[in-house]
Amino acid sequence: MIPMVDLKRQFNDIRDEVCSAITEVLESSQYILGPRVTELEKKIAAYHGVAEALGVASGTDALHLAVEALGIGDDDEVITTPFTFFATAEAIMYTGAKPVFVDIEPDTMNIDPAEIEKKITKKTKAIMPVHIFGHPADMRKIRQIADDHKLSIIEDCAQSFGAEMDGKKTGSFGDAGCFSFYPSKNLGAYGDGGMILLNDPAVAADIRKLRNHGSKGQYRHESVGFNSRLDELQAAILLVKFKRIDAYNEQRRLKAALYNQLLTGSVTLPVERPGCRHVYHQYTIRCSNRDMVQKVLQEKGVSSVVYYPTPVHLQEAVSFLGYKKGDLPIAEEAAEKVLSLPVYPELEEASIRETAAIINNV
Ligand SMILES: Cc1ncc(COP(=O)(O)O)c(C=O)c1O
Repeated sequence: MIPMVDLKRQFNDIRDEVCSAITEVLESSQYILGPRVTELEKKIAAYHGVAEALGVASGTDALHLAVEALGIGDDDEVITTPFTFFATAEAIMYTGAKPVFVDIEPDTMNIDPAEIEKKITKKTKAIMPVHIFGHPADMRKIRQIADDHKLSIIEDCAQSFGAEMDGKKTGSFGDAGCFSFYPSKNLGAYGDGGMILLNDPAVAADIRKLRNHGSKGQYRHESVGFNSRLDELQAAILLVKFKRIDAYNEQRRLKAALYNQLLTGSVTLPVERPGCRHVYHQYTIRCSNRDMVQKVLQEKGVSSVVYYPTPVHLQEAVSFLGYKKGDLPIAEEAAEKVLSLPVYPELEEASIRETAAIINNV
C-alpha cells in the first residue's frame, strides 16, 4: 500500500535526535511552557520575520484565541472560505461571531478576493483566509481590502508552513497567523499543537494571558481564559523537525513537480501562481470521474483522500446560517472533483510513477 503520509519512516530517519530531545525533557521535569516552547517560539517568529510567536494547544485554538484577542465576538461577522477543514469556521463560532462564506478561486481553490467585498457589512470585523493545501491565498488583494475597510486579517496557515507570496511567508501578512502542528502537517508534532504569529504586542500580551487561564502572574487572573498551551515534549520534537522544514518542503515540491510532469489527460493539476511558493501540504488533482479514479487507486493499493467532500457552508452543524446548495458553486464543484494523492518528503519516485500511471490509465 502507498500511504498518504509515512510518519514512521520519517521518525526512523530522525529517531536518535527525537529520542534524546524527549529524554532531555523528561530529565528536566519541566513539561508546560518551559524553555523549549520559548526557543521554538523565538525560532518560528524569526523564520517568519514577525515580532512574536505563541505556542498553543492546537491549530483550532490558535484560530480561536486570535479571533478572541482581536476583540471579535457576539454579533460580529468574519468572512472566510467554505473550502476548508471545519475548524476554520468553528473557531469563529466559538466566540459568538458568525462566519460569512464567500466562494473560491477556480485555480487555487483559495478564497476569492473579488467576492469578499460584496459580503462586507457593518458587522464585518475580519477576513480569515485559508492557504488551502499549502498554496498562499491572494494576500496582496486581501490586505488591500482589509486596509480599505479597516478589517483584521487572521490567516489560517494550518496547511502552509513555509509557503510564500512575493518572498513573504504566509502567517506574516495578517494581524495573526495561525498554525497547526497536527502530526501530518508539513511541520508536525507527535500530538496536538499550534502557534500564533503576531506583530502587535498588545494582542500578543492578551493571547499570552488567554492561553493560560487569563493569568498574568501566578494565581493572578485578569480575565477568564483557557487552558491552551503547547507542551515541552511537543516543542522538543518540533525543534528537531523545524531544522529540516525547508528541506522537507523542497522534497514535497519535487514530488509535486514529478506528478505534474507525469499526469496527462483530462486531470486538472494544482497550480502555483507566479510569485508564489506552494508547499504542497496536499497534492490535489481534480477530475470529473473522481470516485472511479479513487476506487481504482484503492484496488491497486494507492491511498487517496477527498479533502473536502462537503464544503463548510453545507455542513449540518451550520444549517442555522441558512446556506443552500448552489450558493457557492465553485466550492461545491471543487468538492465533487478533488482528490488528494500521496505527497510527503520520503515518498519514493517509483510510487509517484505507479500512481500517475494508474490515473492516466483510468
Ligand atoms: C485548514 C485547517 N484549519 C484548521 C485546522 C485545525 O488544526 P488542529 O487540528 O491542529 O486543531 C486544520 C487541521 O487540522 C486545517 O487543516
